[in-house]
Order: sequence, then C-alpha cells, then structure tokens
Amino acid sequence: MKIAVIGLGYVGITTALFFHHFHYDVIGVDIDSKKITQLCSGKLPIYEPELEALLQKQLTKPSLTFTMDIKQAIKKANILFITVGTPSNKDGSANLSHVKEVAQSIGRYQNGDKIVVVKSTVPVHTCEKVRDWIIQSQTQPYAVEVVSNPEFLREGTALYDAMHPDRIIIGAENAQAAEVVKSLYSSLNAPILITRLRTAELIKYTANAFLALKISYINEIARLCDTLGVDVDEVAEGIGLDQRIGRSFLKAGIGWGGSCFPKDVSSLWHLFKSKQIQSKIIPALVDVNETQVDYYIKQLEKRLHGVNGKTISILGIAFKPNTDDTRDSPAIRVIQKLHRKQALLKVYDPIVFKHHQLSIPATICQTMDEVFNNSDCIFLLTDWNEFIQLDWNAYIHLMRTPFIIDGRNALDGPSLQQMGYMYYGIGK
Ligand code: UGA
Repeated sequence: MKIAVIGLGYVGITTALFFHHFHYDVIGVDIDSKKITQLCSGKLPIYEPELEALLQKQLTKPSLTFTMDIKQAIKKANILFITVGTPSNKDGSANLSHVKEVAQSIGRYQNGDKIVVVKSTVPVHTCEKVRDWIIQSQTQPYAVEVVSNPEFLREGTALYDAMHPDRIIIGAENAQAAEVVKSLYSSLNAPILITRLRTAELIKYTANAFLALKISYINEIARLCDTLGVDVDEVAEGIGLDQRIGRSFLKAGIGWGGSCFPKDVSSLWHLFKSKQIQSKIIPALVDVNETQVDYYIKQLEKRLHGVNGKTISILGIAFKPNTDDTRDSPAIRVIQKLHRKQALLKVYDPIVFKHHQLSIPATICQTMDEVFNNSDCIFLLTDWNEFIQLDWNAYIHLMRTPFIIDGRNALDGPSLQQMGYMYYGIGK
C-alpha cells in the first residue's frame, strides 16, 4: 500500500514519518518548494524535537520521498491523506480553500480507486463536501471513499503523541474503507473508535474546545485564588486527583494560544451560530482567555506603580515550550498591550528567533545578561526548561527592580523570594 500525505505542516510531516516508520511507502507533497528542498536534504522546516533525527534516518530508504508533484503522488498512492491547514476566516469559520484545492486535484488526477483520509481539522460535513469536490473534478468515474481520521498530536511532542495516542478515531460511511484505515494503525496499542464521518469531525472540535475549557476554568479560579490567598496549583492538584476530573490541562497560566485551540474553538462557535443554537460555554471560555492577559497586566501595573517608561523583559514568545510556533501566542498579546502602555520591552526566546523574524515592538536579547540588565520586571510567558533551570541568583544584581511575574507558574517562587526577588505567580 502506498500512502501520499498532502500538506507538510506539523501534522503532515509527523504523519508521513509515522507511516514510513511502520514500513509503508510514503510520498509527502507540498506546494512550498523551499519546504520540499529542506525535507529532501534532511532538514525540518519547523522546530519539533526528535522529528529531524527520524527524518534523516528514514531518508536513507527510497520508500520515503517528498515532492511538489501532486499529480504523480495521486497517481502512485492508493491512500491519500489530506493534512493541509484550515485557518480561520474573518467570521471565525474554518477556511477550507486548501482542502478544496487538494480534493479537486485528487479528482482531476485520479487514475484508479482511492481512499482519501481527511486529517486536517474540519467542520462537520466537510468530508462529504470533499467527496463531492473530488467527484465533480473527475475525468472518469473512479470510486472514492472519504474517511475522517482527526489528529490529536500536540506541537512539541508530535512524534511521541503520534506513537502513543490515547485513541484513534475513524469516521466513515463505508465499513470497508474504515477497516483499511484501521489496519494502518495495527502496530499501535490504542483503542480505535469507528464512527460516522460527521461524528469523527465533531469529536475533534469538541475535544479541543473541552481542553481549552479546562484551562479557562482553572484560570478563572486562579483569579479568585489571588484574592483569597489560596494557591491555584494546589487546588488543581486536589481536584485533579478525582479521576472523573483528571490532572491534565489544569495548569493555570497567562492563557492558551497556538495554531489549534483559538481557531478550532472559533470554528465550533461558528458552527453553533450557523445552526442557530446559542452556546453559552464557548463565548465564556474565549472571554476568560482573552481577559487573562489584561488581568495580569493590571496586576503588574499595580505592583510596578504603572508600566509607562518601565523596562519589562519577556521570557519566551512561543505559545508553549518545545516549539517555534508563535501563532496566537499569549506572549505576543502581552507585548502589544504593554507597548501600547509605553513600557520598554525586551524579549528572549531560546528557539523562536533562530527560525523566524518577527515584527514586534521589543528588543530581542541574545543573552541573559541583556535580559536582566536594568530591567524592572521579568515576565515569564513560555515555560521553557531553560528558564526553569536558570541560575536566577546569578542575575538578580543586574535588575533595577528584582520583580518576577511568572505567567506559567513554572518557577520555584519561595526559592526566588529567598534570593531577594519579589515573585508573583498566577493564582499563587
Ligand atoms: C492541541 C491539542 O492538545 C492536540 O490534542 C491537538 O491535536 C492540537 O491542538 C491540534 O488540534 O492540532 P497544541 O495546540 O499543540 O495541541 O498545544 P497544547 O499542548 O494543547 O497547548 C495549547 C495551549 O494551552 C498552549 O498555549 C499551552 O501553554 C496552554 N495550556 C495547556 C495551558 O495554559 N495549561 C495547560 O494545563 C495546558
């Protein structure tokens, strides 16, 4: 069986390497020539731990190739995975133009029966549309079965998550096609749930929105903890021990971001609106997330007696550690808001600036000396290990005011206080 993976972002690259690891012939396809050149020479176009080493190892075999030639890939493969992006439209709905283009190419170049597996996160009924788009573009009436197989991997741990999924969801209207896709995962020890197409599509959105809800809930509780003298991390521990609740995604912080939660939550909300069903929960979880940044900027202003003219050093700009992704990162929102309040900003991130040139109103630091020098406040916004393991004692003397605001509750507050820092965490 030959697999084509069309769209080589985080999900596509991981999917291609995953199936190749399990001995399938894989062709990775993308329209970006730079990306294809990089991949062919063993370089990842993204920062994702472990993936580059696996790519280099696998490229030694001819059964893994990367190409821009979608026509040949469609002709050669029997199973076609669609892994292109589905960014947000202005109205919050998912933009399906890339999915549609791929579907039309499949129809145009189809030379035999194919199974098309949609891994991109798409609204309910999209897979049915994909089937229509393929059939409308066909030059000959070949059979095509569309299967939904949503992806649950996280950036930063993409390879581990792909190899150790909690579950595999397969949505299909044709039992035989579902079995073929199921067989692709036979090496994994994970429960496999087969559903209708539309159910699988909704499972993905519901899962992402639920995880975002958990974070927004604990973040709202954190604000209450601030006023009650209660430590939110202990509350999370206490409730997380209840198996019905669970401990994960209850880490209070400056808020959730990234390329998935914001767009998927907004797409789900759009789905409610398009069906004229009022959602009370989704606007609330979005509102808590949006105001979390404002709430902690206010706390910062209170403690520094205003931020106008103060030097604030931001640690971390990625939306979470172990990724170079800054899409919808809360750190960017913080920088923009503090800039509007006339704060003087410095920023350091161990990975992002090595890969991207960002247009932000802040001085980019190369060293920790630069970060701490004459700073009135360190604002930690991404919990990179480098910051957790930093020798904080070695830099305190460089600061004008030794104040730390820990936007990820990642640091050891009591130790920092012993060193002489004023430490303020989220809901601490
Ligand atoms: C998320 C989902 O976790 C994946 O299951 C899904 O496959 C993926 O979206 C997707 O749809 O492609 P990802 O966006 O990579 O994965 O990142 P997460 O690890 O979920 O973190 C999202 C945000 O929530 C980050 O900003 C993170 O810092 C924040 N977060 C996470 C918290 O503030 N607290 C937590 O306890 C957990």
